[in-house]
Amino acid sequence: MDATTNRMNQDELKKAAAFAAVEEIRTLAPGAVIGVGTGSTVNHFIDALAGSGVIIRGAVPSSEASARRLAAHGILLVGLDEIGAGPIPAYVDGADEIDPGFNMIKGGGGALTREKIVAAVARRFICICDASKKVATLGRFPLPVEIIPMAHTQVRHEIARLTGGSSRWREGFVTDNANHILDVSGLTINDPRTLESDLNQIAGVVTNGLFARRGADVLLLATASGVERSERPG
Ligand code: 5RP
Repeated sequence: MDATTNRMNQDELKKAAAFAAVEEIRTLAPGAVIGVGTGSTVNHFIDALAGSGVIIRGAVPSSEASARRLAAHGILLVGLDEIGAGPIPAYVDGADEIDPGFNMIKGGGGALTREKIVAAVARRFICICDASKKVATLGRFPLPVEIIPMAHTQVRHEIARLTGGSSRWREGFVTDNANHILDVSGLTINDPRTLESDLNQIAGVVTNGLFARRGADVLLLATASGVERSERPG
């Protein structure tokens, strides 16, 4: 199987997970406000939701890109200020990696900070993935860290000291918050909760792409034999 065929299959799986998420949203009370993440899997979700007949009041997007896509479908954009302290019933988003405890690495698309903010006000985090994202231990996917641009050098130094990993600047990429991203490779993340907190203590770090303190609640994992639904263990 060549790379293009592989990518096509992966995209079909992403679509299947997205359709399954629409069915989760269908079970909510009509007129709910939901959180919507960012990425190619979420793009399928937005398109599927728009064509589904499911009635929501609107969506809180985690990026400008998702906001544009939602608006293009005529879905009302809702600001966090409008929902107060929340909660909203559900947040739907993809992941770059998810482990058996439903801890995730996110931020491959660079939207990690707003994703964390919207996820924080959601009662349920519904993670939609193709099977390639399920891993035994997080860390093969380089961990994105959003940083204040002036702090590049010191943050890279501190990350190396703390983790032993090496970080690479995602050159040319600017986040929706006008910041930069470092992608940290060479990690084997056995304690994602601790690492998430420790990285956030470095001056100049806005946030990092570990979603362990607020992991997923529901996983819709698309495999060649169908979409598997599971809830966070424990
Ligand atoms: C964006 C994210 C995405 O959820 C993650 O990168 C997965 O993307 P995709 O659905 O395109 O594979 O965290 O910041």
